[in-house]
Amino acid sequence: MDQDYESRLTLSRILDEIAIDRIPARRRKAFLTRLEALFPDLFGHMITLYGTRYDAYVHMRALVATLAEHQVRKQPEGLREEGAPWYLSERAVGMAVYVDLFAGDLDGLIEKIPYLEQLGISYLHLMPLFLAPEDNSDGGYAVSDYRKVNPALGDAKTLRKLADALHARGIRLSLDFVFNHTSDEHAWAQAALDGDPRYRAFYFFVDGAEAEDYNRSLREIFPQARRGSFTWNEAAQKWVWTTFNSFQWDLNYANPDVFVSVVGEMLSLVGMGCDVLRLDALAFVWKEKGTTCESQPKAHVLIRAFNLCLRIAAPHVVFKSEAIVHPDEVNSYIAPEECQISYNPLMMALMWESLATRQTALLRASLARSFAIPETTAWVNYIRCHDDIGWTWDDAVSNSLGINGADHRRFLNAFYTGRFEGSFADGVAFGENPDTGDCRVCGTLASLAGVGKAMAGTTQELDHALARVRVLHAVTLAMPGMPLLYQGDEIGVLNDLSFEDDPDKRDDSRWVHRKALTTADFDLAQDSATPQGRIAAGIARMIDLRRKHPVFGRSDFRLLDPSQPNSFAFLRRCGTDRLLVAVNFSEYGVTTAIDPRGLLDSDRVVDLLDPGAPCPPGAMALGPYAAHWYLAAD
Ligand code: GLC
Ligand code: GLC
Repeated sequence: MDQDYESRLTLSRILDEIAIDRIPARRRKAFLTRLEALFPDLFGHMITLYGTRYDAYVHMRALVATLAEHQVRKQPEGLREEGAPWYLSERAVGMAVYVDLFAGDLDGLIEKIPYLEQLGISYLHLMPLFLAPEDNSDGGYAVSDYRKVNPALGDAKTLRKLADALHARGIRLSLDFVFNHTSDEHAWAQAALDGDPRYRAFYFFVDGAEAEDYNRSLREIFPQARRGSFTWNEAAQKWVWTTFNSFQWDLNYANPDVFVSVVGEMLSLVGMGCDVLRLDALAFVWKEKGTTCESQPKAHVLIRAFNLCLRIAAPHVVFKSEAIVHPDEVNSYIAPEECQISYNPLMMALMWESLATRQTALLRASLARSFAIPETTAWVNYIRCHDDIGWTWDDAVSNSLGINGADHRRFLNAFYTGRFEGSFADGVAFGENPDTGDCRVCGTLASLAGVGKAMAGTTQELDHALARVRVLHAVTLAMPGMPLLYQGDEIGVLNDLSFEDDPDKRDDSRWVHRKALTTADFDLAQDSATPQGRIAAGIARMIDLRRKHPVFGRSDFRLLDPSQPNSFAFLRRCGTDRLLVAVNFSEYGVTTAIDPRGLLDSDRVVDLLDPGAPCPPGAMALGPYAAHWYLAAD
């Protein structure tokens, strides 16, 4: 028998056995059509993951029942797509916020919608807002109940109200799907502690040597919190797999019951009204002894299976990948069958690298190698997010430029933590590993770009710092993909050291860039005489320009060689519109090899960022930290 036949036979048996007619007739038909079309693939993935188990059928039946139970209504009104996927549009501009730090609670956030709308935001990512341990919850990434909103933020009804209000303004909502782990307070974890068979939901080892066996090939993610990837649990008298903090227990997807249960949780999240699920820490979800347990082949199969469940039950929702790993691995999750959109950690890290070194060679060479992704997928381009900056790039690329990866990462850490003489930045180290000396970097966009330090310096230093902020945005808002701002960066918020006084936050320096935003912060940005005001006005203007010109949406893209080590340039083309973006990552003026009028084949070239300034004929000069958006439209 071939697998296709088996899958159809299985599905027809399942449909006989489950109460499919509980789905209202008008939705049942569409659901069954999708189920019948996609089940053969889903069946294949289930066989790959769980086919050797004698109870595989039972789990498949439970899975289909879960899909039928949770299948979600269609795309919300007001969010219809015209042709190309919404995330490829010039109007796609995102922002990520913590509900409490940005607006107090969900009601406060509803009141902030006009602010987002005015800024041109069309995608809002809310950091995890579910029930979580009270003292330390890793910023909400330790979920105790996926179906309960953290009471400090509001309730499910208010979240629904928020989703509807956002949709009415054409803003899509993204929620986290934290599926690598739960908190140790989740009912599954509690049941596991009570010795329930559910303990198989997690990785428990009685034998420390077995945990050690795994440890040998694992990367340490939070060495400042705990060494290795396992935590001894006194109550259970067992070792628990905890890739991140000790209170975040990794789920064991080798158990099909876990997969089916998590699909139910995923779809109930979708039922809360979100349009995008952010797949948190997705590289870690499948474990194989002797490997790094990151990006295993079966992690991809698992994500494809989740994706098919979504296509069947809630086809309007897309997955966003949060893989902060080697560029090839990052790219491996980007596919219509896995994640349609993905963070772009490579470009993020290398823009900062370019600012530190005043050289764009590594950025250019790395993008040339890794930027291209399938047509219907998109990068989520960002400069800062709620996490640390890790210096991920492919060392083969740095080697080819004569750059030693390890040394260069050490330099970048020293530079951005201000330990390197002459550095403009005042970031903070994160995750320092006492054995290897490795670390990563935290800080707000403005602080890392040098605005904080420069405010105590000369006018020129301040101008340069603000120009760095502008350069980063001029690239991020114009590269193919959806730009994603991080709360507070749009108003130039500086580092906040108050976390050092909080015992639950003291050891996690990512809180330095997670400030509770106050009215004073927003007011300061209204005043165009302040650095914050200059930053805010600049970003708002660029977003506005981006939204007005389709060339920033789905269009051709070509990286250019400006023949100057500190410059970065690219071309975009959409119909008759041509856009040349050119920036200088240094304080040294240069003349590039690019002739904008020649390249754009037009005498009517306008710099969108400075429409009054003419675009002279011939080779383009780039002043200190210059940024140009040259548009030719005829
Ligand atoms: C992701 C989140 C990060 C969190 C980790 C564990 O990387 O972005 O904030 O600590 O996953 O959930
Ligand atoms: C992520 C990454 C790690 C990052 C951390 C969150 O998933 O893999 O490098 O720093 O989790 O901060």
